[in-house]
Amino acid sequence: MKNYLSVNDLGNLQNAVKEAIEIKKNRFAYKHLGENKTCLLVFFNNSLRTRLSTQKAAMNLGMNTIVLDVNQGAWKLETERGVVMDGDKSEHLLEAIPVMASYCDIVGVRAFAQFESKEYDYNETILNQFIRYSGKPVFSMEAATAHPLQAFADLITIEENKKTARPKVVLTWAPHPKALPQAVPNSFADFMNEADVDFVITHPEGYELCESFARNAKVEYNQNKAFEGADFIYAKNWAAYADPNYGKILSKDMSWMVDSEKMRLTNNAFFMHCLPVRRNMIVSDDVIESPQSLVIQEAANREISAQTVLKRMLESL
Ligand code: CP
Repeated sequence: MKNYLSVNDLGNLQNAVKEAIEIKKNRFAYKHLGENKTCLLVFFNNSLRTRLSTQKAAMNLGMNTIVLDVNQGAWKLETERGVVMDGDKSEHLLEAIPVMASYCDIVGVRAFAQFESKEYDYNETILNQFIRYSGKPVFSMEAATAHPLQAFADLITIEENKKTARPKVVLTWAPHPKALPQAVPNSFADFMNEADVDFVITHPEGYELCESFARNAKVEYNQNKAFEGADFIYAKNWAAYADPNYGKILSKDMSWMVDSEKMRLTNNAFFMHCLPVRRNMIVSDDVIESPQSLVIQEAANREISAQTVLKRMLESL
């Protein structure tokens, strides 16, 4: 695997999940692969899970890791070409990227959507500059439009817990006080559309996801109806994608929060969320604390998804 940017880079998805589950059984079996190799993790945004799980995955593979928080201690970076740099940004990404790349073998990048321009975000402007100018394999640690390490961990978690061969998986929008990117729901949809599941998306009107991610997924605007018979409920907030409301909050309707009354409509479904989660906005305390909540297992599986991806990247160096 050269780069890891979407589900497409995993090839056969069933094989990738099988490989991940094998790695989980013996996560130090490939320690030789990363000897004398360095993984650089570049964060333009905050992180808890991605930062720790990716470092742990790299360590399991015998790699060294360097972590850079661009906004804490590095020079403020300009990302647009052609700008007269007479403001507060001291360094251009076009120099910074090859310099950073000179210290490592593989680069991970986290660069969220900024919601200033849909074109800038959906062209993955920052991630693509790393791919173009680093000369090194690049993996996404959540970019503007996708979070494929999260979605891979989510799929592993579903595989570990499913009770039927083809479970019903529901991605539900839920309210949030701030405008959040579509990266997590986009990638979750991308993976579920490739997996052997009955996939339904439910959200208020106006929150339709980008077609290239939602594809042929069934969209049900009635959340209660969507929950009927579900085996997995995956909750997430996202801001509007469709023009002219790109990046805007259209609703804070608290009736969309996942609570125990809604979970009773399901087939005793498992509850999933990528975390961090706002309790009693997205999900009630009793649901996230219930035995059906998989949120900690999902987060733990981030180590496994990252390790499977890094293993494949190391094998291709
Ligand atoms: N789910 C996830 O990516 O968590 P962090 O933002 O804490 O890395």
